Amino acid sequence: MTHVAVLMGGWSAEREVSLVSGRACAEALERRGFRVSRVEVDERLPAVLTRLRPDVVFNALHGRLGEDGRVQGLLDLLGIPYTHSGVRASAIAMHKPTALRLFQSAGLPVPEGRVMPAAEVAEAPPFPPPFVVKPVDEGSSIDVELVLRAEDLARVGHKLAERSRPVLVERYIPGLELTCAVLDGRPLAVTEVAPREGFYDYRAKYTPGIAEHRLPAPIPPRVYERVMEIARCAHLLLGCRGLTRADLRFDPERGEAGLALLEINTQPGMTPLSLAPEQAAYCGLSFEDLVVRLVELAACDP
Ligand SMILES: Nc1ncnc2c1ncn2[C@@H]1O[C@H](COP(=O)(O)OP(=O)(O)O)[C@@H](O)[C@H]1O
Ligand SMILES: [Mg+2]
Repeated sequence: MTHVAVLMGGWSAEREVSLVSGRACAEALERRGFRVSRVEVDERLPAVLTRLRPDVVFNALHGRLGEDGRVQGLLDLLGIPYTHSGVRASAIAMHKPTALRLFQSAGLPVPEGRVMPAAEVAEAPPFPPPFVVKPVDEGSSIDVELVLRAEDLARVGHKLAERSRPVLVERYIPGLELTCAVLDGRPLAVTEVAPREGFYDYRAKYTPGIAEHRLPAPIPPRVYERVMEIARCAHLLLGCRGLTRADLRFDPERGEAGLALLEINTQPGMTPLSLAPEQAAYCGLSFEDLVVRLVELAACDP
């Protein structure tokens, strides 16, 4: 019987989401007859894995350490195959400015943006509002600030003055929020994520009923196909494995030229509410099928 250790929790700001993802995946694997060890991750992880000696690690961590290549590096060293992307793809995808540079160099559309010290944004914004200010390497909309009008600058400036790390400032792209998961190099579907109010923040992402998922996204077929192609290329370009999810914006007034890729997530949410499992189901792959497929695709970096 294959023994799978499901890593969940961890240190990042997305700890709670990871616990929900991890529990759901562990249950799915048990229903499919796998022997499962649930591992709530802390600094003892190397010793825990050495003791458990699982055949495969299912990585259900999000954010710092678990999604940025560091846990992946540990698993490479221990020689335990793991789900999702390897060290380099994870590290690059987590650092948005680096990933966006690569996407842009391959001809994928990305928003115009600039990296700068957080404290300087209010004083010397790189362009007039509307713009978005975000950490270079967080997920789940954590600390993403929207500056729609000049008046918002003072409020955001106060918050940013306390941040020591540089931020990414991007032109705000009006319109729709689209997302497309890619499984083993194959784009699944495109969902429009429509927040019922305001923009798509942490609460909206993980509170049932706050964001509406429109699947398939009600956009022109040519745009739909282009999103699938952008997501596939981004996944390939970073050398991702298993499952990823690309987040895009789409300004319908500009047609296909109104698409911009914001990021790809190498450890997309696997909660019951999550977008990628929903797209897999739309393609005929149940949650359990998806989780088992990810275990089958598990590998160490070559
Ligand atoms: N350039 C942008 N224009 C419009 N909205 C944006 C832009 N960048 C981010 N957002 C909004 O903020 C959310 C989070 O941004 P994203 O880049 O996906 O980072 P993360 O999901 O890692 O926090 C997006 O889903 C979107 O709603
Ligand atoms: Mg995102």
